[in-house]
Amino acid sequence: MSEKIEDIARAMVLPGQGILAADESTGTIQKRFDSIGVENTETNRRDYREMLFRSDDAMNNNIAGVIQFEETLFQKAADGTPFVDLIRKAGAVPGIKVDKGAQPLAGHPGETVTAGLDGLPERLAQYHEAGARFAKWRAVISITDALPTRGGILANAHALARYAADCQRAGIVPIVEPEVQMDADPADHTIERCHEVTAEVLRVVFEQLSALNVKLEGMILKPNMVVPGSRAQKQATPEEVAHHTVAVLKRTVPSAVPGIAFLSGGQSDEEATANLAAMNANYDLPWALTYSYGRALQAACLSAWSGLPENVPAAQKAFTHRARMNGLAAKGEWTAEAERG
Ligand code: 13P
Repeated sequence: MSEKIEDIARAMVLPGQGILAADESTGTIQKRFDSIGVENTETNRRDYREMLFRSDDAMNNNIAGVIQFEETLFQKAADGTPFVDLIRKAGAVPGIKVDKGAQPLAGHPGETVTAGLDGLPERLAQYHEAGARFAKWRAVISITDALPTRGGILANAHALARYAADCQRAGIVPIVEPEVQMDADPADHTIERCHEVTAEVLRVVFEQLSALNVKLEGMILKPNMVVPGSRAQKQATPEEVAHHTVAVLKRTVPSAVPGIAFLSGGQSDEEATANLAAMNANYDLPWALTYSYGRALQAACLSAWSGLPENVPAAQKAFTHRARMNGLAAKGEWTAEAERG
């Protein structure tokens, strides 16, 4: 495969394909495993991820990139095959989460800034050596009537831009992820408020990317969809979500960016699919618009698995179905009938 970052970025958003976010930190995968009563050991984490990466139909047809946690990037399948090789063999690009999580932002109650810039160039060189060709950094943006503040947005956008510049220098495509949260307390905001905040965040993010000379052709944006808070009185239809999300993205994301891959952020599996489908079916878009889902690609698979080897075929089937449905959504071809089929 080409080593140019523009080519790698395009390969991550091929038509009908998206990105599997399997980069849960050891703490986050603990929560997922707790929900199915599985112990959080290195072997169980390996077995779970190996099951995903060996889902050939999904991996070959609908997954163009896999975000891994550091442990997974250097991990091997039970038979000794490096995970990086499994992912590459399926035609997908291996990637890695490089941020060190959201930390309280001094002087800004209720807001965070993402850590991990110190030593990042050295870590990126190691990850590149291990086979990673893209990275992810998540900035978390709180949303209330009063938040985010200008300072909160600026601090996070600047860190994203510094990370992105370091990645490109290392030959790694940055996934730039500013997440306006849909489900953090109080999560009662309207879709209009999410529209306003997401637009402002993206404006500042692209200003900062520009200030640090980040090459737009060699990055992927991973935003939230524009949705009401998960506890808002008035929820939204896929058509409303598509209308607001496409309007915000068209006003803020330059067409030189090859792809936008959404996070699912707490939407149900089917909501995340239906919302993506509504955008691709109804709008003419300058970038590939696809998925980089964690929970919305894995939830059904995780519960079908429940940690039992005999459940692996059923769990892979569940993952394959979700990947296929999202692949259809990325082409605007998903239907409720396909969902049940
Ligand atoms: P969700 O799709 O579960 O929100 O996870 C995507 C992700 O990578 C968050 O950083």
